[in-house]
Amino acid sequence: MKLDKLIEETRTADEINRLFNWSEDELAAMDETEFRARFRERCHHTMEIQVYENAFRGKPLSEKQVSTAEKYMRVWDRRGLSHDCHEYKFAATLLGFAKQLIAGEIPDFSSYEPKWLTPEEQEIFDRVLYERRSVRHWDTSRRVPNELIDRILRAGLWAAHACNLQSIRYLVVREESEPGLFRGSDIPGGPVHIVLLQDERVYRANQVMPDYNHILDCGAAGQNIVLAAHAYGLGGVWLTFNQKMRERLTERFEIPDYMNMVTYVDVGYPAQSPAPVLRPEPEDMIFARI
Ligand SMILES: Cc1cc2nc3c(=O)[nH]c(=O)nc-3n(C[C@H](O)[C@H](O)[C@H](O)COP(=O)(O)O)c2cc1C
Repeated sequence: MKLDKLIEETRTADEINRLFNWSEDELAAMDETEFRARFRERCHHTMEIQVYENAFRGKPLSEKQVSTAEKYMRVWDRRGLSHDCHEYKFAATLLGFAKQLIAGEIPDFSSYEPKWLTPEEQEIFDRVLYERRSVRHWDTSRRVPNELIDRILRAGLWAAHACNLQSIRYLVVREESEPGLFRGSDIPGGPVHIVLLQDERVYRANQVMPDYNHILDCGAAGQNIVLAAHAYGLGGVWLTFNQKMRERLTERFEIPDYMNMVTYVDVGYPAQSPAPVLRPEPEDMIFARI
């Protein structure tokens, strides 16, 4: 997103200042979820984007970029947060790049180059994409191991996410733990229900972002989840709440107002192999191409 452009169109300089330029005392006092989201957002906009713009396009990289990150890292320490947290480690890496670039050196990015897929591996990726189906009937005699569920949850978190705000939260419910909690769904009894919640507090960190990005963040996680389930040998189906289910789950898990219950996916060992729901050809779906 072109943050500068959006800001110019909709906000005064004072409003922008208030949205992004918090004092160290204010940052130290705010709730931890919001602070960490602000930390991620600032690192994203003031360092991650800027470091690569400098390295690959020669855009000037100012000391201010570095000082913003350093300010947030000082508050991190003041709050007694761990240096093992993912956002702190990432910020430290970016800060290293930024300092090298400011000193006129080009950081060595070579260790981050992905191992590109061989043609054979690309065929396997295609199988994951094109053999995934929505599975709605389950072999409940086979228990899905927690380790497999954890791998799927991790895949959801590695989806693209606007400004690296990390809003996704999970509710993982085995049907056997509380049968009928999800009644009202088209598909009764999915052995493992993965509910995707979003902690809306993180979006306070970027209030100029369009609201639709929130739901897109969740959609990206959901797609990773159904693909990962398939890749790891499970079936999955993306499902839809009705209002009563939402209320039941909200009450059962005492879900606070700032937690938005967006969608859910059932996963388990499949007892069916559905025929593919055929899709249109891309050439028939192109609105314009130049
Ligand atoms: C946001 C979303 C909501 C869905 N809700 C339901 C649902 O309530 N019930 C259901 O049986 N399938 C649901 N699905 C699954 C779709 O029906 C399914 O993905 C589509 O028919 C294509 O089939 P495939 O997934 O096997 O390729 C949903 C999928 C998405 C992305």
